[in-house]
Amino acid sequence: MRLTLKIWRQADAASEGAMHTYEIDDVSEDMSFLEMLDVLNEELQAKGEEPVAFDSDCREGICGMCGLMINGQAHGPEVTTTCQLHMRSFKDGDEIVIEPWRADAFPVVKDLCVDRGAFDRIIQAGGYISVNTGSAPEAHATPVPRDDALRAFNVATCIGCGACVAACPNGSASLFMGAKITHLGELPQGQPERDTRVVEMVGQHDHEGFGGCTNIGECTAACPKEIPLDVISRLNWDLHAAMRHGL
Ligand code: SF4
Ligand code: FES
Repeated sequence: MRLTLKIWRQADAASEGAMHTYEIDDVSEDMSFLEMLDVLNEELQAKGEEPVAFDSDCREGICGMCGLMINGQAHGPEVTTTCQLHMRSFKDGDEIVIEPWRADAFPVVKDLCVDRGAFDRIIQAGGYISVNTGSAPEAHATPVPRDDALRAFNVATCIGCGACVAACPNGSASLFMGAKITHLGELPQGQPERDTRVVEMVGQHDHEGFGGCTNIGECTAACPKEIPLDVISRLNWDLHAAMRHGL
């Protein structure tokens, strides 16, 4: 395939950015999207030009490092991570617009790399959970109903990629936060700090500059792990419960 790429280039957080156009030939439909960018970067380096900076690590859809706006969609046209998107989703002659995550709380570091440290600070604000240390407890000492265990496991698949924020017109991190709150809130081990956890996490979320949720649903549509929208209901329920308890 021959493609035209329009890519956001920005030297650093303080500089003005702009779209740059590149032509690329010989793109195989079997390449991943990031491999296609690797090829572009090899060509740029061969010409003595600065390669395009973008984030990636596992390239297997599990670490959450990758993330690009591709033709205006977080992670592109498929429900998957950018690293698991393949060029067979495009056709010869296509023009592809590639931008960094769009959110005030994720400032651009360089080109397509953004700083997602705000997510780490939300997790950090949630604090610890109380568990007994020492030898391994007997397997049935803390029974967890099967449905609760499945629900906790499913929402624990959130990889912290930030697509939900990038897709949300309000730049809200409510889906990400709801996944974390639901994960711990379903389990006995998550109960002792349940009230303080939700209050602290929501406070940090707002402090970081993420917007509020208005039930638009773009977050769950963009989420590569299909985290359901109802985790935000759980988040709100827990927050109201904490307030009723005097926090
Ligand atoms: S909720 Fe989904 S889109 Fe948001 S950070 Fe987690 S995995 Fe990514
Ligand atoms: S690079 Fe790890 S999820 Fe994409």
